[in-house]
Amino acid sequence: MAKYLISSLILLVIIVCVTTLNTDEDEAWAWFQEYSDAASIVENRRAKINWAYITNITDYNQQRELEYSEIRKEFTKQVAQNASTFDFNNFQNSTLKREFKRLANKGTAALSDIKFTRINKLAIGLESTYGKAKLCKTGKTELSLEPELTQMLASGRNHDDLLWIWKNWRDATGKVMREDYLEFVELQNEAARLNGYTDTGEYWRDGYSIEGYDFRADLEKLYDQLRPFYKELHTYVKSKLKAYYGADKFPDSGHIPAHLLGDMWALIWVNVEDLVLPYESSKPVNATPAIQKLTIREVFNITDEFFTSLGLETVTQEFWDNSMLEKPKDGRDVICHADALDFSDGKDFRIKQCTRLNMEDFVTVHHEMGHIQYYLQYKDLLYSFRAGANPGFHEAVGDVLALSVSTPKHLKEVGLIDSYEENYGG
Ligand SMILES: *[C@@H]1O[C@H](CO)[C@@H](O)[C@H](O)[C@H]1NC(C)=O
Ligand SMILES: *[C@@H]1O[C@H](CO)[C@@H](O)[C@H](O)[C@H]1NC(C)=O
Ligand SMILES: *[C@@H]1O[C@H](CO)[C@@H](O)[C@H](O)[C@H]1NC(C)=O
Ligand SMILES: *[C@@H]1O[C@H](CO)[C@@H](O)[C@H](O)[C@H]1NC(C)=O
Ligand SMILES: [Zn+2]
Repeated sequence: MAKYLISSLILLVIIVCVTTLNTDEDEAWAWFQEYSDAASIVENRRAKINWAYITNITDYNQQRELEYSEIRKEFTKQVAQNASTFDFNNFQNSTLKREFKRLANKGTAALSDIKFTRINKLAIGLESTYGKAKLCKTGKTELSLEPELTQMLASGRNHDDLLWIWKNWRDATGKVMREDYLEFVELQNEAARLNGYTDTGEYWRDGYSIEGYDFRADLEKLYDQLRPFYKELHTYVKSKLKAYYGADKFPDSGHIPAHLLGDMWALIWVNVEDLVLPYESSKPVNATPAIQKLTIREVFNITDEFFTSLGLETVTQEFWDNSMLEKPKDGRDVICHADALDFSDGKDFRIKQCTRLNMEDFVTVHHEMGHIQYYLQYKDLLYSFRAGANPGFHEAVGDVLALSVSTPKHLKEVGLIDSYEENYGG
């Protein structure tokens, strides 16, 4: 019996091996184009359902999003299966080889059905906890991340108030999300392993890998170049903040407490500019008063005109019709985090941003419009090629533009500051 079983197993293995993979690259290309059209439609529906949710967090919209992720899973699985009928590892055409390798990856659809549903529930639950979190300071007014807490951190100068905001925001978000997040990470790593990676980190880094290029080493090198400057800047800013808030508020470890940098993530330091200016004579370039005289649409319009002045594309009518450019006033919960979205139909591109009228958001608008510009530039390519050159590239496009509009020269040119002085100190 055992012998019979073994020999039939061997036969089965032979049959599986003999079921030869398709080596025809023309056929592969033809399927790839068909796939691309189908993917655009699936992605368009996903984007619309997702939009309904992120601009209106309700249980119903959350449920629809979960349902559609199940439909999309079937599509992803089918695509992976169909791609795997080709011998793509031996393709001559390197583009096709790379794209097929990507399509053969099932992502989280590689998980069991139960775990797939679970990870989607976790992801959407985490997002909604973060989007809906609110603090109560005096017991009556509710404070959201945007605009209230962001504003309070940016302009607040009372140490204990700032600490209260920072700590309570973490308690209302991070602490509440912790357990679910840990489970989410577990499942994400399991999916990565099922797709042949050691963990999600390796999968993410794979997006940057090219043959003969060491991504990690390159980043180390860049960071080493930047480090001396960063250390000086850090030390300088710290000394100025110490002088203002008192040295007793700073730990011996040398860190700057995160609540003192004017930003919930201590990421953008522009809001403490007034505390850290180097010389009496130096004045901050402040376009905020002029920006406050504009409407939010005008800010986006000025940004669009900046792009077209460079010979780039103007946004579509759908952009103006469908975007959410400010926080809705009807009280519905939305995910305020600024984002630019591609609806994969070549004309529907949207920004979701709870824009405020100030210099910081003026720059953010340029960043987000950088994403839209990239979408516009590649809108006529096949679906798989409508993406950044690597996962970081999109952010870089936006930031190149954002940096160039922050200069006094540009701000004067668009009439947002009257005059400025080149100042080299002293
Ligand atoms: C928000 O979603 C609910 C469904 O949960 C819907 O009834 C309502 O009309 C939506 N509101 C807006 C402004 O889209
Ligand atoms: C996968 O192949 C099957 C069988 O040829 C076909 O019916 C299906 O439409 C294909 N799906 C995709 C997404 O390519
Ligand atoms: C791969 O094939 C496509 C379609 O024929 C072609 O457009 C592309 O230039 C080829 N790429 C390479 C690297 O040969
Ligand atoms: C943008 O501004 C220009 C010039 O002021 C105006 O002609 C155009 O109608 C504006 N567009 C939008 C969408 O507001
Ligand atoms: Zn971005």
